[in-house]
Amino acid sequence: MANENIVHEATERKKTSNLDEPSFTFSQEVFLSLVQHLPIGIVCFEYESVALYNPVAEQLFSTLGYTPKKLWNLEEFLKSVLDIREPLRYAHLYTKRLHLTNGELFILEFTIVSTPEPSVTFLILKDVTDLFTYRESIEEMDRLLVVGELAAGLAHEIRNPLASLRGFTQMIQRSKDPDSNLSYTQIMLNELDRINGLVEELLQLAKPRSQPFFQRNLIEILNSVVILLNPQAIVKSCAIHLSVENWDWQQNVLCQPNKLKQAFINLIKNAVEASEPGRIIDVIVKRTHKFVDIFIIDDGPGIDDSILHHLGKKFITTKESGTGLGLMLSQSIISDHMGQLEILKNEKRGTEVRIRLPVCQ
Ligand SMILES: Nc1ncnc2c1ncn2[C@@H]1O[C@H](COP(=O)(O)OP(=O)(O)OP(=O)(O)O)[C@@H](O)[C@H]1O
Ligand SMILES: [Mg+2]
Repeated sequence: MANENIVHEATERKKTSNLDEPSFTFSQEVFLSLVQHLPIGIVCFEYESVALYNPVAEQLFSTLGYTPKKLWNLEEFLKSVLDIREPLRYAHLYTKRLHLTNGELFILEFTIVSTPEPSVTFLILKDVTDLFTYRESIEEMDRLLVVGELAAGLAHEIRNPLASLRGFTQMIQRSKDPDSNLSYTQIMLNELDRINGLVEELLQLAKPRSQPFFQRNLIEILNSVVILLNPQAIVKSCAIHLSVENWDWQQNVLCQPNKLKQAFINLIKNAVEASEPGRIIDVIVKRTHKFVDIFIIDDGPGIDDSILHHLGKKFITTKESGTGLGLMLSQSIISDHMGQLEILKNEKRGTEVRIRLPVCQ
Protein backbone atom coordinates (compact mmCIF):
# COMPACT_ATOMS: atom_id res chain seq x y z
CA MET A 1 0.00 0.00 0.00
CA ALA A 2 2.81 2.38 1.02
CA ASN A 3 4.61 1.60 -2.27
CA GLU A 4 1.49 2.34 -4.27
CA ASN A 5 1.34 5.78 -2.65
CA ILE A 6 4.92 6.50 -3.56
CA VAL A 7 4.30 5.50 -7.18
CA HIS A 8 1.16 7.62 -7.23
CA GLU A 9 2.91 10.65 -5.79
CA ALA A 10 5.74 10.29 -8.29
CA THR A 11 3.29 10.04 -11.19
CA GLU A 12 1.40 13.12 -10.01
CA ARG A 13 4.64 15.04 -9.68
CA LYS A 14 5.68 13.96 -13.17
CA LYS A 15 2.39 15.26 -14.57
CA THR A 16 2.80 18.69 -12.99
CA SER A 17 6.56 19.14 -13.33
CA ASN A 18 8.32 20.46 -16.37
CA LEU A 19 12.02 20.29 -17.18
CA ASP A 20 12.31 24.07 -17.52
CA GLU A 21 10.60 24.66 -14.21
CA PRO A 22 11.49 21.81 -11.87
CA SER A 23 9.17 21.42 -8.91
CA PHE A 24 12.18 20.94 -6.59
CA THR A 25 15.49 22.70 -6.09
CA PHE A 26 18.80 20.94 -5.49
CA SER A 27 20.93 22.03 -2.61
CA GLN A 28 24.61 22.50 -3.46
CA GLU A 29 25.43 19.34 -1.45
CA VAL A 30 23.04 17.24 -3.53
CA PHE A 31 24.58 18.58 -6.75
CA LEU A 32 28.13 17.92 -5.51
CA SER A 33 27.22 14.39 -4.40
CA LEU A 34 25.78 13.70 -7.85
CA VAL A 35 28.94 14.97 -9.58
CA GLN A 36 31.17 12.96 -7.23
CA HIS A 37 29.33 9.71 -7.94
CA LEU A 38 28.74 10.00 -11.68
CA PRO A 39 30.62 7.26 -13.63
CA ILE A 40 31.93 9.85 -16.12
CA GLY A 41 34.66 12.42 -15.61
CA ILE A 42 33.53 15.99 -14.96
CA VAL A 43 35.71 19.07 -14.66
CA CYS A 44 34.04 22.39 -13.96
CA PHE A 45 35.81 25.61 -15.01
CA GLU A 46 35.01 29.00 -13.69
CA TYR A 47 36.79 31.93 -15.34
CA GLU A 48 39.45 29.68 -16.92
CA SER A 49 40.42 27.98 -13.69
CA VAL A 50 39.31 24.62 -12.38
CA ALA A 51 36.58 25.01 -9.78
CA LEU A 52 35.67 21.36 -9.34
CA TYR A 53 36.42 17.86 -10.64
CA ASN A 54 35.23 14.41 -9.68
CA PRO A 55 37.22 11.21 -8.93
CA VAL A 56 36.62 9.73 -12.41
CA ALA A 57 38.09 12.89 -14.01
CA GLU A 58 41.07 12.69 -11.67
CA GLN A 59 41.65 9.06 -12.62
CA LEU A 60 41.36 9.77 -16.36
CA PHE A 61 43.79 12.66 -16.07
CA SER A 62 46.25 10.53 -14.12
CA THR A 63 46.12 7.92 -16.95
CA LEU A 64 47.26 10.75 -19.22
CA GLY A 65 50.02 11.60 -16.74
CA TYR A 66 48.27 14.79 -15.76
CA THR A 67 46.19 16.20 -12.94
CA PRO A 68 43.15 18.47 -13.17
CA LYS A 69 44.76 20.66 -10.50
CA LYS A 70 47.38 21.73 -13.05
CA LEU A 71 44.71 22.77 -15.54
CA TRP A 72 44.56 26.49 -15.93
CA ASN A 73 43.60 26.88 -19.56
CA LEU A 74 41.20 24.41 -21.12
CA GLU A 75 42.06 25.33 -24.70
CA GLU A 76 45.79 24.98 -24.06
CA PHE A 77 45.26 21.59 -22.39
CA LEU A 78 43.19 20.29 -25.30
CA LYS A 79 45.83 21.44 -27.76
CA SER A 80 48.92 20.22 -25.94
CA VAL A 81 47.69 17.02 -24.26
CA LEU A 82 44.89 15.87 -26.55
CA ASP A 83 46.32 17.35 -29.75
CA ILE A 84 43.05 19.02 -30.81
CA ARG A 85 44.00 21.38 -33.63
CA GLU A 86 40.57 22.52 -34.80
CA PRO A 87 38.69 25.45 -33.17
CA LEU A 88 36.75 24.22 -30.14
CA ARG A 89 33.08 23.53 -30.47
CA TYR A 90 30.63 23.37 -27.61
CA ALA A 91 28.45 20.28 -27.24
CA HIS A 92 30.51 18.49 -29.92
CA LEU A 93 31.45 14.88 -29.13
CA TYR A 94 35.19 14.49 -29.64
CA THR A 95 36.82 11.06 -29.82
CA LYS A 96 40.56 10.99 -29.37
CA ARG A 97 42.88 8.00 -29.76
CA LEU A 98 46.00 8.37 -27.67
CA HIS A 99 49.04 6.21 -27.13
CA LEU A 100 50.08 6.21 -23.49
CA THR A 101 53.74 6.24 -22.46
CA ASN A 102 53.51 2.48 -21.77
CA GLY A 103 52.44 1.99 -25.39
CA GLU A 104 48.82 1.13 -24.58
CA LEU A 105 45.97 2.56 -26.61
CA PHE A 106 43.63 4.92 -24.76
CA ILE A 107 40.47 6.23 -26.39
CA LEU A 108 38.86 9.22 -24.76
CA GLU A 109 35.50 10.74 -25.57
CA PHE A 110 34.86 14.27 -24.39
CA THR A 111 32.48 17.20 -24.72
CA ILE A 112 32.72 20.83 -23.67
CA VAL A 113 29.43 22.09 -22.33
CA SER A 114 28.47 25.72 -21.80
CA THR A 115 26.08 26.61 -18.98
CA PRO A 116 23.56 29.41 -18.43
CA GLU A 117 26.31 31.04 -16.37
CA PRO A 118 28.74 32.44 -19.01
CA SER A 119 31.77 32.12 -16.73
CA VAL A 120 31.12 28.40 -16.08
CA THR A 121 32.06 25.60 -18.50
CA PHE A 122 32.04 21.82 -18.04
CA LEU A 123 34.44 19.33 -19.57
CA ILE A 124 32.83 15.88 -19.64
CA LEU A 125 35.13 12.90 -20.23
CA LYS A 126 34.62 9.19 -20.79
CA ASP A 127 37.09 6.33 -21.28
CA VAL A 128 35.70 4.42 -24.30
CA THR A 129 38.78 2.23 -24.93
CA ASP A 130 36.96 -1.03 -24.06
CA LEU A 131 33.89 -0.09 -26.05
CA PHE A 132 35.93 0.76 -29.15
CA THR A 133 38.19 -2.28 -28.94
CA TYR A 134 35.09 -4.46 -28.52
CA ARG A 135 33.52 -2.86 -31.60
CA GLU A 136 36.72 -3.27 -33.56
CA SER A 137 36.98 -6.95 -32.65
CA ILE A 138 33.41 -7.49 -33.87
CA GLU A 139 34.29 -5.68 -37.11
CA GLU A 140 37.36 -7.86 -37.43
CA MET A 141 35.28 -11.00 -36.89
CA ASP A 142 32.80 -9.91 -39.56
CA ARG A 143 35.65 -9.12 -41.97
CA LEU A 144 37.20 -12.54 -41.53
CA LEU A 145 33.82 -14.25 -41.89
CA VAL A 146 33.23 -12.32 -45.11
CA VAL A 147 36.72 -13.14 -46.40
CA GLY A 148 36.09 -16.83 -45.65
CA GLU A 149 32.76 -16.80 -47.45
CA LEU A 150 34.16 -14.93 -50.43
CA ALA A 151 37.14 -17.27 -50.60
CA ALA A 152 34.77 -20.20 -51.09
CA GLY A 153 33.02 -18.33 -53.93
CA LEU A 154 36.30 -17.28 -55.51
CA ALA A 155 37.79 -20.78 -55.30
CA HIS A 156 34.76 -21.91 -57.28
CA GLU A 157 35.25 -19.08 -59.78
CA ILE A 158 38.95 -19.83 -60.22
CA ARG A 159 38.19 -23.39 -61.24
CA ASN A 160 36.74 -22.24 -64.60
CA PRO A 161 39.81 -20.35 -65.88
CA LEU A 162 42.02 -23.14 -64.47
CA ALA A 163 40.06 -25.69 -66.48
CA SER A 164 40.49 -23.65 -69.66
CA LEU A 165 44.21 -23.17 -68.92
CA ARG A 166 44.54 -26.93 -68.63
CA GLY A 167 42.69 -27.43 -71.90
CA PHE A 168 44.84 -24.95 -73.81
CA THR A 169 48.05 -26.42 -72.34
CA GLN A 170 47.01 -29.84 -73.64
CA MET A 171 46.18 -28.35 -77.04
CA ILE A 172 49.61 -26.68 -77.26
CA GLN A 173 51.25 -29.96 -76.22
CA ARG A 174 49.61 -31.75 -79.12
CA SER A 175 49.67 -28.92 -81.65
CA LYS A 176 52.16 -28.72 -84.45
CA ASP A 177 51.08 -25.28 -85.61
CA PRO A 178 53.00 -22.42 -83.85
CA ASP A 179 50.54 -19.80 -85.21
CA SER A 180 47.52 -21.27 -83.44
CA ASN A 181 49.65 -21.73 -80.33
CA LEU A 182 50.14 -17.95 -80.29
CA SER A 183 46.40 -17.30 -80.12
CA TYR A 184 46.04 -19.96 -77.38
CA THR A 185 48.73 -18.31 -75.28
CA GLN A 186 46.95 -14.93 -75.53
CA ILE A 187 43.73 -16.47 -74.16
CA MET A 188 45.78 -18.22 -71.47
CA LEU A 189 47.37 -14.92 -70.44
CA ASN A 190 43.91 -13.31 -70.16
CA GLU A 191 42.69 -16.20 -68.01
CA LEU A 192 45.79 -15.93 -65.80
CA ASP A 193 45.13 -12.19 -65.37
CA ARG A 194 41.56 -12.97 -64.38
CA ILE A 195 42.70 -15.42 -61.69
CA ASN A 196 45.31 -12.94 -60.53
CA GLY A 197 42.72 -10.15 -60.27
CA LEU A 198 40.36 -12.31 -58.18
CA VAL A 199 43.11 -13.41 -55.80
CA GLU A 200 44.46 -9.86 -55.55
CA GLU A 201 41.04 -8.47 -54.52
CA LEU A 202 40.65 -11.14 -51.85
CA LEU A 203 44.14 -10.54 -50.50
CA GLN A 204 43.48 -6.80 -50.29
CA LEU A 205 40.41 -7.44 -48.17
CA ALA A 206 42.13 -10.04 -46.03
CA LYS A 207 44.96 -7.63 -45.17
CA PRO A 208 44.77 -6.17 -41.68
CA ARG A 209 42.45 -3.19 -41.62
CA SER A 210 43.94 0.06 -42.87
CA GLN A 211 43.09 2.58 -40.21
CA PRO A 212 43.96 5.88 -41.91
CA PHE A 213 41.53 7.70 -44.17
CA PHE A 214 42.60 8.06 -47.82
CA GLN A 215 41.09 9.84 -50.79
CA ARG A 216 39.87 7.04 -53.04
CA ASN A 217 37.77 6.74 -56.16
CA LEU A 218 34.40 5.35 -55.11
CA ILE A 219 33.79 3.62 -58.42
CA GLU A 220 37.04 1.68 -58.11
CA ILE A 221 35.98 0.55 -54.64
CA LEU A 222 32.55 -0.52 -55.89
CA ASN A 223 34.11 -2.27 -58.90
CA SER A 224 36.32 -4.41 -56.69
CA VAL A 225 33.31 -5.25 -54.48
CA VAL A 226 31.43 -6.39 -57.58
CA ILE A 227 34.44 -8.54 -58.64
CA LEU A 228 34.45 -10.18 -55.20
CA LEU A 229 30.70 -10.83 -55.13
CA ASN A 230 30.24 -11.86 -58.75
CA PRO A 231 30.99 -15.55 -58.07
CA GLN A 232 28.16 -15.68 -55.51
CA ALA A 233 25.80 -13.91 -57.90
CA ILE A 234 26.76 -16.23 -60.77
CA VAL A 235 26.08 -19.33 -58.65
CA LYS A 236 22.51 -18.01 -58.24
CA SER A 237 22.32 -17.00 -61.93
CA CYS A 238 21.99 -13.40 -60.76
CA ALA A 239 23.97 -10.40 -61.98
CA ILE A 240 25.19 -7.27 -60.25
CA HIS A 241 24.86 -4.17 -62.46
CA LEU A 242 26.91 -1.15 -61.51
CA SER A 243 25.78 2.09 -63.15
CA VAL A 244 27.01 5.63 -62.67
CA GLU A 245 25.00 8.81 -63.24
CA ASN A 246 26.59 12.27 -63.48
CA TRP A 247 29.71 11.25 -61.58
CA ASP A 248 32.95 13.05 -62.19
CA TRP A 249 35.46 10.21 -62.49
CA GLN A 250 38.15 12.26 -60.80
CA GLN A 251 35.99 12.69 -57.74
CA ASN A 252 37.11 10.92 -54.58
CA VAL A 253 35.65 10.10 -51.20
CA LEU A 254 37.66 10.31 -48.01
CA CYS A 255 37.53 6.79 -46.66
CA GLN A 256 39.10 3.81 -45.00
CA PRO A 257 38.97 1.79 -48.24
CA ASN A 258 38.81 -1.68 -46.71
CA LYS A 259 36.12 -0.72 -44.24
CA LEU A 260 34.02 0.92 -46.92
CA LYS A 261 34.44 -2.23 -49.05
CA GLN A 262 33.32 -4.31 -46.05
CA ALA A 263 30.12 -2.23 -45.72
CA PHE A 264 29.32 -2.50 -49.46
CA ILE A 265 30.07 -6.24 -49.48
CA ASN A 266 27.65 -6.81 -46.61
CA LEU A 267 24.90 -4.76 -48.25
CA ILE A 268 25.28 -6.16 -51.78
CA LYS A 269 25.68 -9.70 -50.40
CA ASN A 270 22.34 -9.28 -48.61
CA ALA A 271 20.78 -8.17 -51.91
CA VAL A 272 22.21 -11.24 -53.71
CA GLU A 273 20.99 -13.53 -50.93
CA ALA A 274 17.48 -12.00 -51.07
CA SER A 275 17.23 -12.38 -54.88
CA GLU A 276 15.51 -15.18 -56.75
CA PRO A 277 17.61 -16.87 -59.46
CA GLY A 278 17.96 -14.86 -62.65
CA ARG A 279 17.38 -11.45 -61.04
CA ILE A 280 19.49 -8.31 -61.34
CA ILE A 281 20.92 -6.42 -58.39
CA ASP A 282 21.29 -2.76 -59.29
CA VAL A 283 24.03 -0.65 -57.76
CA ILE A 284 23.46 2.94 -58.88
CA VAL A 285 25.79 5.84 -58.11
CA LYS A 286 24.48 9.41 -58.36
CA ARG A 287 26.25 12.65 -57.55
CA THR A 288 24.16 15.25 -55.75
CA HIS A 289 26.03 18.47 -55.01
CA LYS A 290 28.37 17.78 -52.05
CA PHE A 291 27.35 14.15 -51.73
CA VAL A 292 27.32 10.92 -53.62
CA ASP A 293 24.34 8.61 -53.24
CA ILE A 294 24.66 4.89 -53.75
CA PHE A 295 21.50 2.85 -54.24
CA ILE A 296 21.47 -0.94 -53.92
CA ILE A 297 18.18 -2.32 -55.19
CA ASP A 298 17.07 -5.94 -55.35
CA ASP A 299 13.91 -7.79 -56.38
CA GLY A 300 13.72 -9.87 -53.21
CA PRO A 301 10.79 -10.06 -50.78
CA GLY A 302 11.69 -6.73 -49.13
CA ILE A 303 13.19 -6.30 -45.71
CA ASP A 304 11.07 -7.20 -42.71
CA ASP A 305 9.67 -4.30 -40.62
CA SER A 306 10.84 -5.92 -37.39
CA ILE A 307 14.44 -5.75 -38.67
CA LEU A 308 14.09 -2.15 -39.80
CA HIS A 309 12.96 -1.14 -36.29
CA HIS A 310 16.12 -2.57 -34.74
CA LEU A 311 18.52 -1.48 -37.48
CA GLY A 312 21.97 -0.85 -36.08
CA LYS A 313 21.03 -1.89 -32.55
CA LYS A 314 20.80 -5.65 -32.46
CA PHE A 315 22.18 -8.68 -34.25
CA ILE A 316 19.05 -9.92 -35.98
CA THR A 317 19.08 -12.55 -38.67
CA THR A 318 16.44 -14.52 -40.51
CA LYS A 319 19.07 -16.73 -42.16
CA GLU A 320 20.07 -20.15 -40.92
CA SER A 321 23.79 -19.43 -41.12
CA GLY A 322 23.59 -15.64 -40.72
CA THR A 323 25.22 -13.68 -37.90
CA GLY A 324 23.10 -10.54 -38.13
CA LEU A 325 26.31 -8.51 -38.03
CA GLY A 326 26.24 -7.21 -41.59
CA LEU A 327 23.69 -4.40 -41.32
CA MET A 328 24.83 -3.25 -37.90
CA LEU A 329 28.45 -2.97 -38.97
CA SER A 330 27.63 -1.40 -42.31
CA GLN A 331 25.70 1.29 -40.51
CA SER A 332 28.53 2.04 -38.09
CA ILE A 333 31.12 2.08 -40.91
CA ILE A 334 29.01 4.48 -42.98
CA SER A 335 28.48 6.78 -40.00
CA ASP A 336 32.27 6.72 -39.32
CA HIS A 337 32.55 8.10 -42.86
CA MET A 338 30.14 10.97 -42.01
CA GLY A 339 27.57 9.25 -44.20
CA GLN A 340 24.02 8.03 -43.83
CA LEU A 341 22.50 4.62 -44.42
CA GLU A 342 18.82 4.14 -45.04
CA ILE A 343 16.99 0.91 -45.83
CA LEU A 344 13.50 0.91 -47.24
CA LYS A 345 11.05 -1.17 -49.18
CA ASN A 346 11.12 -0.20 -52.82
CA GLU A 347 7.57 0.26 -54.14
CA LYS A 348 8.13 -1.69 -57.35
CA ARG A 349 10.98 -3.99 -56.36
CA GLY A 350 12.31 -5.52 -53.12
CA THR A 351 14.70 -3.75 -50.78
CA GLU A 352 16.38 -0.44 -51.48
CA VAL A 353 19.49 0.56 -49.56
CA ARG A 354 20.55 4.20 -49.81
CA ILE A 355 23.98 5.31 -48.76
CA ARG A 356 24.97 8.97 -48.77
CA LEU A 357 28.64 9.89 -48.49
CA PRO A 358 30.31 13.30 -48.60
CA VAL A 359 32.63 13.76 -51.58
CA CYS A 360 36.04 15.40 -51.41
CA GLN A 361 35.73 19.04 -52.52
N1 LIG B 1 18.23 -6.89 -49.21
C1 LIG B 1 17.53 -7.49 -48.25
N2 LIG B 1 16.30 -8.02 -48.51
C2 LIG B 1 15.57 -8.64 -47.56
N3 LIG B 1 15.97 -8.78 -46.28
C3 LIG B 1 17.16 -8.28 -45.94
C4 LIG B 1 18.02 -7.60 -46.89
N4 LIG B 1 19.13 -7.20 -46.25
C5 LIG B 1 19.01 -7.63 -44.98
N5 LIG B 1 17.84 -8.27 -44.78
C6 LIG B 1 17.36 -8.85 -43.53
O1 LIG B 1 18.12 -8.31 -42.46
C7 LIG B 1 18.71 -9.37 -41.69
C8 LIG B 1 20.02 -8.90 -41.12
O2 LIG B 1 20.97 -8.72 -42.15
P1 LIG B 1 22.51 -8.79 -41.79
O3 LIG B 1 23.28 -8.55 -43.02
O4 LIG B 1 22.74 -7.90 -40.63
O5 LIG B 1 22.71 -10.27 -41.27
P2 LIG B 1 22.53 -11.61 -42.12
O6 LIG B 1 22.57 -11.30 -43.58
O7 LIG B 1 21.34 -12.31 -41.61
O8 LIG B 1 23.83 -12.42 -41.68
P3 LIG B 1 25.31 -12.29 -42.33
O9 LIG B 1 25.42 -10.87 -42.82
O10 LIG B 1 26.21 -12.62 -41.23
O11 LIG B 1 25.37 -13.28 -43.45
C9 LIG B 1 18.79 -10.54 -42.64
O12 LIG B 1 18.80 -11.78 -41.96
C10 LIG B 1 17.54 -10.35 -43.49
O13 LIG B 1 16.40 -10.89 -42.85
MG1 LIG C 1 24.17 -10.08 -44.36
